[in-house]
Amino acid sequence: MSSTLESPAPFNHPSKHTSGLSVLRLADAGEASKRVAREIGSLIRHRAAEHRNCVLGLATGSTPIRVYRELVRMHREEGLSFHNVVTFNLDEYFPIKPDAAQSYVRFMNEHLFDHIDIVRANVHIPKGTIELEAVPGYCRDYDELIASTGGIDLQLLGIGRTGHIGFNEPGATKDTRTRLVKLDNLTRLDAVKDFGGMEHVPLLAITMGVDSILQSRRIRLLAFGEHKADIVQRAIEGRMTSTIPASFLQTHRDVQYLLDDAAAECLSQSTYGETV
Ligand code: GLP
Repeated sequence: MSSTLESPAPFNHPSKHTSGLSVLRLADAGEASKRVAREIGSLIRHRAAEHRNCVLGLATGSTPIRVYRELVRMHREEGLSFHNVVTFNLDEYFPIKPDAAQSYVRFMNEHLFDHIDIVRANVHIPKGTIELEAVPGYCRDYDELIASTGGIDLQLLGIGRTGHIGFNEPGATKDTRTRLVKLDNLTRLDAVKDFGGMEHVPLLAITMGVDSILQSRRIRLLAFGEHKADIVQRAIEGRMTSTIPASFLQTHRDVQYLLDDAAAECLSQSTYGETV
């Protein structure tokens, strides 16, 4: 049975009944992460049974770590194979070497890829080492590669305190594609803990665009903790605006927010309906 069928019907936002946005409020981050991991696992198996690839859009940051942990457990204990999986990561700092402690290549290897049977050639993470002049062409190729694999089946997302998805910072419009961007100051401040000082945090990043993200067939956004409550509320209940790029998800036909109690705190009760 697919996990979509197992899930209780999520509550759809009444004022957005024409969109596919739904919000689940879960007991805690562990429950939310397991639910998404189960959905990913059943999607991979479904596709494998049809001899087809499963294309996943992956995210970094502290939020998805438990999803990756659960996927690794499913690989080890339940025989979940990633042989038919193709992945595209959302973003990467620029410039950065792949073996730098803060690189997203290293993050993904440590949390997921080193522990599963994925074919390395199927892993795609924006390169932090390309020459500046080559970046626009590289970014076009990244979007084209996603399209040529058939598009992303499920995109995992976190949300930054600026309202960013990937590194689409305030100002990013709905039609943006993969490109080089300037990081917002708040995002750089949040990254100080990883880089050990503001002066070491990169100013730039390569990110999939808002439009690149919206092309995904399903989007699952995880947000945990009270520091996300305000931006989650504005992204879901506020008007769509490039000041909060995550608000553009309101137009998507299958986007689900999975929140813990703290992150859901500022939402009106009618937005998430019953707690799962
Ligand atoms: C980084 C990533 C985003 C992520 C955000 C939130 O900025 N590029 O994709 O959503 O961090 O991080 P955290 O999950 O640690 O709150």
